[in-house]
Amino acid sequence: MLLDLLKGLFRRPAAVPSPEAVEDNPLVYWFAKRRGRRLVKLLHYLEVYHRHFSRYRGRSPVVLEIGVFDGGSLDMWRDYFGPGTRIYGVDVDARCSAFAAPDTTIIIGDQGDRDFLKRLRQEIGQVDILIDDGGHHMHQQIATFEELYSMVADDGIYLCEDMHTSYWAEFDGAYRKPGTFVEYSKALIDQLNAWHAKGPAEFAVDDFTRSAYAMHYYDSMLVIDKKSMSPPTVVSTKA
Ligand SMILES: C[S@@+](CC[C@H](N)C(=O)[O-])C[C@H]1O[C@@H](n2cnc3c(N)ncnc32)[C@H](O)[C@@H]1O
Repeated sequence: MLLDLLKGLFRRPAAVPSPEAVEDNPLVYWFAKRRGRRLVKLLHYLEVYHRHFSRYRGRSPVVLEIGVFDGGSLDMWRDYFGPGTRIYGVDVDARCSAFAAPDTTIIIGDQGDRDFLKRLRQEIGQVDILIDDGGHHMHQQIATFEELYSMVADDGIYLCEDMHTSYWAEFDGAYRKPGTFVEYSKALIDQLNAWHAKGPAEFAVDDFTRSAYAMHYYDSMLVIDKKSMSPPTVVSTKA
């Protein structure tokens, strides 16, 4: 029955998720019931969110989302993570201040402005989950990652969405164009593996190597799981 409801709700019925993906995903139920302030997502994002975020439900996480728009996603996170969740929303549009609530702080600023991002990091401190759903331009996604990745807790999650803009000229993107966030993040894959570097000199263990446990790529999304890392240990069975 829920699937029927969703078929009416989503613009592309063919993209309705499998029953398995729906049944245990509260975000899909929330979306189906949602009325009022709008929220627009790619359907598979709901599956990806739940896959990575479910361990924080009922655990009062600190969540920072860049991009507030109509406040819909802040409502979704509040409902999904439950009481005690601390939410920070950042947007360049001053009208978003209207979505402040006792558990939600709205901060107005431009995510492409590194000085603003540095101040933001100081002001908020550590977060468990950071979601970049702001302007989606290349310099914004890169500046946000470079300035704010370090404020995500050890064992926390950094998520950047709508990365398809890396392929769109109006966002400074193009296929394999140097400087897009997709190309930038491909270099992070090297750093994830830098424990095994044998040169050149610039390919060496850095803060990202020491703090990133996994990088998960999905259509339009990158999810980075953080965890303090040390050089990999070799294990072997007995001869
Ligand atoms: C796609 S909406 C995201 C809204 C929300 N996360 C949601 O899911 O409904 C993008 C938001 O990013 C904001 N934005 C655009 N450029 C920005 C910038 N440079 N810095 C911060 N926010 C920006 C826009 O004002 C808009 O509200």
